[in-house]
Amino acid sequence: MKRRFFYIFSTLLVLHTGLFAAETEKAASKESALTEDEKFYGTELRSSKKVVHPPYEWGDCTVCHTDAKGEGGLVQDPPELCYMCHEPKDSKKFIHGPVAAGACTACHNPHESENSKLLVASSINELCTSCHQAKGEFLHTTTHIHPPVQDKCTNCHDPHTEDHLYQLKADRFMDLCVMCHVDKEVWTREVSVKHGALNRPRKCLECHDPHGSENPKFLIKETSKELCLTCHNQRLVTDEDGYKLTNMAKHLEENPDWHGPILWGDCAACHNPHGSNNLRMLKKPFPKKFYDKFDKDHYICFECHEPEKIQDEFTTTATNFRNGDKNMHFVHVNGKKGRTCRACHDFHGTKEYPHHLRKKTSFGKINFPIRYIETDTGGSCAPACHARRYYDRETPKVNLK
Ligand code: HEC
Ligand code: HEC
Ligand code: HEC
Ligand code: HEC
Ligand code: HEC
Ligand code: HEC
Ligand code: HEC
Ligand code: HEC
Ligand code: HEC
Ligand code: HEC
Ligand code: HEC
Repeated sequence: MKRRFFYIFSTLLVLHTGLFAAETEKAASKESALTEDEKFYGTELRSSKKVVHPPYEWGDCTVCHTDAKGEGGLVQDPPELCYMCHEPKDSKKFIHGPVAAGACTACHNPHESENSKLLVASSINELCTSCHQAKGEFLHTTTHIHPPVQDKCTNCHDPHTEDHLYQLKADRFMDLCVMCHVDKEVWTREVSVKHGALNRPRKCLECHDPHGSENPKFLIKETSKELCLTCHNQRLVTDEDGYKLTNMAKHLEENPDWHGPILWGDCAACHNPHGSNNLRMLKKPFPKKFYDKFDKDHYICFECHEPEKIQDEFTTTATNFRNGDKNMHFVHVNGKKGRTCRACHDFHGTKEYPHHLRKKTSFGKINFPIRYIETDTGGSCAPACHARRYYDRETPKVNLK
């Protein structure tokens, strides 16, 4: 046992002397290349860590400690200690809890670290979530995380101090978002039909969660429909013309035969929640009036439906609204003074009649019933426009003028 110890010891001694000789040679040849600082403090490396705080590396421990070994306490406590050399980190309106408490060393190692900025954790998100555990939990369990949050919290929050609540780099309701989503700033400002939702106090945050959520696009509700109906559950007034909008929640409740996209919960299939240049913030145009010259590019409907339904004067397939092969959609909608779809359909929800046919149509200020009756092979209606007229796909009807 004793012998083995002696063996190890002597080997180490030999190795060490050899290395030492080599080191002195190297040092001598490099003497002239040393900087003033290196000559003063020496070149011995105090730390093998990736990041070393310069005052620690210099070896002048008494800059911060009352004694050279660092055992007798600090010359003053952080943050003042740190502010001897650094700009204050608590100079703005909102100060992060630990910074206000002077706990610089809760996040920074004053000597050395494997992490950039001398941080005590290997990534910024790990650092933040070591205290903000609920946010850590959220990051790991939430389905859709906003990419800049996944990347690092400091994309939006300053770790020390900022002029905006929660030490955010800009006002949280909108300015922060458009720092990166520049296109949204331009879009919401320039569109002709603006959305009143953006005038509500929380702006972008009325609909989105900045960190992420269980829902696509970080919406705060499961579907865009639920989201829309949180506000459209009353008759909101448009900024533009003072028009009183339909109470959509009530309308859908009273009209349970919902149009396909609404059944899916997707109001944003047709409306752009950020505003648009089309009637009622639609994603594509839709005619404003009861009558309009037909042009398939003026109808958002053809994003999903075939334009032949309206365009083909004669058809046995494009639509069921035909008398024999005579397309009644063509008759009503096509042409210079075509009736727009709203004359007969409601694109949100209906009841009583099939095919999303509305019960009443509004012409100017008048509301009149269309009195639709469906048959197996066709149907008939008797609006104010004309006496009851019939269509039948199999045995075409002759209607009196
Ligand atoms: C930039 C200022 C600064 C310099 C330079 C510095 N220290 Fe420290 N040191 C601190 C602070 C601050 C703490 C208290 C850390 C805490 O709060 O956990 C500390 C703590 C210590 C401790 C207590 C144990 C520990 O690691 O937490 C020792 C020992 C120590 N330093 C030794 C040294 C030595 C030796 C040097 C010079 C090679 C040195 N320090 C240089 C700021 C410094
Ligand atoms: C909550 C954790 C936390 C606390 C507490 C904290 N810092 Fe920081 N600090 C950071 C993070 C994170 C960074 C890196 C920021 C980056 O890279 O964007 C940083 C960067 C720095 C930097 C380098 C970049 C810069 O902004 O100048 C200095 C210097 C600094 N901190 C000093 C301090 C001082 C002094 C204190 C105490 C008053 C302190 N920090 C308290 C987290 C913290
Ligand atoms: C004696 C002067 C001095 C004191 C005291 C001092 N620092 Fe530094 N610190 C420096 C210098 C010099 C640098 C390197 C230049 C720079 O990045 O600004 C530095 C850099 C840093 C960095 C950035 C490291 C990186 O990776 O870029 C952080 C963080 C930091 N210091 C935190 C602190 C904290 C926290 C305290 C107080 C506990 C403190 N410093 C006290 C001189 C000092
Ligand atoms: C050492 C623990 C600690 C670390 C690490 C830490 N925080 Fe904090 N944070 C706090 C404390 C304490 C508060 C104050 C809580 C309060 O006032 O209710 C706070 C408050 C906040 C607040 C304001 C919350 C509110 O409700 O007012 C935000 C935002 C925040 N921290 C973000 C961060 C970010 C981003 C990081 C990472 C860069 C981070 N924190 C790292 C301890 C920490
Ligand atoms: C895309 C920008 C952004 C990023 C990145 C971000 N936040 Fe936030 N954070 C916000 C906004 C905006 C608010 C204000 C939310 C509000 O008013 O409802 C906020 C609020 C907070 C709050 C206080 C309110 C709350 O939700 O508890 C904490 C704590 C917080 N963030 C922590 C974090 C942490 C930790 C990270 C990194 C994992 C992070 N944030 C990343 C934008 C961001
Ligand atoms: C630091 C930059 C940054 C900030 C600040 C920021 N975002 Fe993002 N956001 C991104 C990036 C990067 C993506 C992913 C790339 C993309 O889809 O554009 C993203 C994606 C999104 C998406 C999903 C896009 C998609 O098509 O899936 C939404 C919604 C979103 N952000 C909303 C917001 C809101 C609301 C705010 C303000 C609270 C905000 N963002 C602030 C950078 C940012
Ligand atoms: C009225 C609710 C609402 C408001 C307010 C709102 N959004 Fe959205 N946002 C949505 C919905 C719903 C979607 C999904 C749209 C879709 O599926 O086409 C979305 C999608 C997005 C997307 C991804 C798709 C795209 O259009 O680029 C981004 C980015 C986005 N929003 C950012 C913002 C920003 C930034 C603000 C504030 C200026 C904001 N949103 C305000 C409801 C809203
Ligand atoms: C935070 C409340 C809020 C939410 C959520 C909201 N809206 Fe609105 N919306 C309004 C207000 C207020 C108005 C009236 C002011 C205006 O925009 O003209 C409005 C107006 C409208 C208009 C008429 C715009 C015009 O001027 O012609 C449409 C269409 C509309 N919203 C659809 C939607 C859809 C679709 C959604 C869901 C994606 C939605 N809204 C979500 C508040 C909201
Ligand atoms: C299939 C496309 C489509 C879908 C899906 C859709 N809308 Fe609409 N919406 C329209 C069209 C087209 C108009 C214009 C109606 C008009 O002027 O006659 C409109 C008009 C509106 C209006 C104004 C009504 C008025 O009083 O003039 C509101 C509010 C509205 N939609 C909200 C919603 C909400 C909320 C949803 C989801 C529940 C939704 N829309 C889904 C096509 C759609
Ligand atoms: C004059 C009234 C009227 C107008 C205007 C009208 N429709 Fe129709 N539409 C009907 C009737 C009636 C049916 C039912 C046909 C049947 O099944 O018997 C129908 C059926 C439909 C159908 C179901 C499939 C089919 O074609 O049978 C779609 C889709 C449709 N219409 C879309 C539109 C679109 C898009 C517009 C506007 C471009 C429009 N309609 C204008 C009366 C009208
Ligand atoms: C995003 C796709 C989409 C858009 C845009 C769209 N629809 Fe539809 N539409 C559907 C789906 C899916 C159905 C089938 C489910 C149903 O009956 O609601 C449907 C069904 C219909 C029906 C009833 C068909 C039947 O036989 O019962 C009518 C009428 C109709 N749409 C009219 C319109 C009108 C008018 C527009 C334009 C304002 C329009 N749609 C825009 C997807 C869309």
